[in-house]
Amino acid sequence: MKIIEAKDYNDMSRKAANILSAQVIMKPDCVLGLATGSTPVGAYRQLVERFEKGDLDFSQVKSVNLDEYKGLERTNDQSYYYFMHENLFNHVNIKEENTNVPNGMEPDAEKECARYEALIDSLGGVDLQLLGLGHNGHIGFNEPAEAFDKATHCVNLTERTIEANKRFFASADDVPRQAYTMGIGTIMRAKKILIIVSGEDKAEIVRDAFFGPVTPKVPASILQMHPDVTLVADAAALSKIPR
Ligand code: GLP
Repeated sequence: MKIIEAKDYNDMSRKAANILSAQVIMKPDCVLGLATGSTPVGAYRQLVERFEKGDLDFSQVKSVNLDEYKGLERTNDQSYYYFMHENLFNHVNIKEENTNVPNGMEPDAEKECARYEALIDSLGGVDLQLLGLGHNGHIGFNEPAEAFDKATHCVNLTERTIEANKRFFASADDVPRQAYTMGIGTIMRAKKILIIVSGEDKAEIVRDAFFGPVTPKVPASILQMHPDVTLVADAAALSKIPR
């Protein structure tokens, strides 16, 4: 794993955007795996700025998002579909038909998860997968578990994740209890992975995930086994790693 230390959140966002931009420039018709959460917002802003300057062209880029809440309409401002449009898709020249987010309104989990896996395969797999890191080590919505979930599946969110995400909803009761997420196997099949982390509150999980044992109890720890992972994290998030 390659670790790139950034000064702060803005610096992390710039460095992450550099890697995403390089991918788009080197392979204009690449498949980007995209993530939501507060961490990638700054990197998406950077990509929009570079697009506006004329330095980036998304006209042939395809995207697949990691996850989506089950039961939220696309028009709900907390859906990941909405988030992606607000933060990136509406501001660059990516074609709507080339963007993909799991369909949270499909009630048949098996059907939707099979569709999403087949879709990723039909695109030839993900060239560069962007990831954030949950406080409990989750990636996408792969929560700590007894075994790694391989394919796209429906998850029951943990209390900790519901707690962490409730700030975006009127109350904890409004946070959906389930989500569709790419599985660990889906994520691990990406050719390259870029994981971004910011803030002291993630310092312990950065240490456990990337310097501790590989275990499904810390889902991100599996990334230690991937041949091409770059961690871009700010100094605060790296403050507890062994030096
Ligand atoms: C959410 C998302 C993840 C994200 C994580 C961290 O629940 N499903 O994809 O990486 O939590 O979020 P944040 O970046 O806001 O800390």
